[in-house]
Amino acid sequence: MVQYVTIGKTTDLKPGQMKTFAVDGKRVLVANWEGTFFAMQDLCTHDNGTLSDGELADGEIECPRHGGRFDLKTGAVTALPPMFPIKTFAVKVEGESVMLALE
Ligand code: FES
Repeated sequence: MVQYVTIGKTTDLKPGQMKTFAVDGKRVLVANWEGTFFAMQDLCTHDNGTLSDGELADGEIECPRHGGRFDLKTGAVTALPPMFPIKTFAVKVEGESVMLALE
């Protein structure tokens, strides 16, 4: 059974903003893209760049180190040099609470 943990309120992140949370010993990046919340590992699969230092654009996150890009929803690579996707986490919103799925 999937457990969800509340990580904040919908008002904590405006559209276009992102923030990193420590969840279950992992650094998880939560992004608000056009009013939808996405969560993913805060670590690039290319060479361990910190994705939260990067940029959000077009439903993707760009790594600040070498410009690799990942789809916010699926974690798939959309621009090289990364060869492997990043891990994503399910997010749900209940009322004003933003909740993250734990495995
Ligand atoms: S470390 Fe992210 S693209 Fe190289």
